[in-house]
Amino acid sequence: MTDGFDADDGFLTADAIPADRDLDASLRPSSLAEFVGQPKVREQLELVLHAARGRGRTPDHILLSGPPGLGKTSLAMIIASEMGSAIRITSGPAIERAGDLAAMLSNLVEGDVLFIDEIHRIARPAEEMLYMAMEDFRVDVVVGKGPGATSIPLEIAPFTLVGATTRSGALTGPLRDRFGFTAHMEFYEAAELVRVLVRSAQILDIDIDADAAAEVAGRSRGTPRIANRLLRRVRDYAEVRGDGRVDVAAARAALAVYDVDELGLDRLDRAVLGALVRGFGGGPVGVSTLAVAVGEEPATVEEVCEPFLVRAGMIARTPRGRIATGAAWNHLGLQAPPDAIDQVHGVRAREETPFD
Ligand SMILES: Nc1ncnc2c1ncn2[C@@H]1O[C@H](COP(=O)(O)OP(=O)(O)O)[C@@H](O)[C@H]1O
Ligand SMILES: [Mg+2]
Repeated sequence: MTDGFDADDGFLTADAIPADRDLDASLRPSSLAEFVGQPKVREQLELVLHAARGRGRTPDHILLSGPPGLGKTSLAMIIASEMGSAIRITSGPAIERAGDLAAMLSNLVEGDVLFIDEIHRIARPAEEMLYMAMEDFRVDVVVGKGPGATSIPLEIAPFTLVGATTRSGALTGPLRDRFGFTAHMEFYEAAELVRVLVRSAQILDIDIDADAAAEVAGRSRGTPRIANRLLRRVRDYAEVRGDGRVDVAAARAALAVYDVDELGLDRLDRAVLGALVRGFGGGPVGVSTLAVAVGEEPATVEEVCEPFLVRAGMIARTPRGRIATGAAWNHLGLQAPPDAIDQVHGVRAREETPFD
């Protein structure tokens, strides 16, 4: 990466950073009942899993789609444990060749869950192999090269593929079509994040007041991973500068230290808004241009910052590029130009329709 936002930062992103890994593991909900929020997804999944158990079959392949930190990996693990199955975990970028995937598939035992994170980044030849594996539980393995190459059919035990993606729009049609069910993860409501925080505080033995939890929840960008991360920072603050108890004053002071504003926008979010408003007069401007302006990868801006900025009504996606809303100008303390569009809260918070 270039400069700027990745130094102390993981803090600012919804992506898992090394410091999160252990914490993520200890705080991960382990059953659907423990999984907070996402009522729609939970109900849909309950039905899919219940029906599969009743029939004694492996559930349909499941795609989990949504921004980072909303619980996709947790859900994949829950799916396996609710089915009493083992889970094998890999990711799109790790599967470079079809052979990698063939090896993995041939090791599956009936009923296993194969979890492929970031499935939109899987290499093309592997993806094509996956089509047949998902549909017929069989793959053709090509042995040798040139005219002497032969293809050997290989049976695969019936399994359930769980794919996770931050960009379901980047999935090819044929891959998307082979999932029996797509769960669209939504940003969490503040009240749901309060429940996440209260649960985490209990596990971590943190003494946090109700209004402090609400304060942290309101600044967590609708994202449980961020809520848990802020909780730790707030605890640090309360331990070092106070008596360890997290009250609302400690929460506010800590969040100010870490540059998380009242809406939960962090440094990178504000940089993106600042570039859009000050650098490009509010847009429209393409996402890659914006990314260059803030020294970030386009994927980070598009998958991490943008979904929340859209949901917060700060920017709108249009065919000609990104546009700042009046709210964005105001949030930066600037007077919005008369032709700035109004808040677009929620209107395009999701790119996909529920049925794609
Ligand atoms: N619904 C939820 N209830 C409670 N905690 C959650 C929930 N979703 C996510 N978390 C917390 O956020 C962390 C990140 O979730 P994860 O499943 O890794 O997200 P993703 O895979 O979508 O990036 C988890 O370890 C857990 O602590
Ligand atoms: Mg994940």
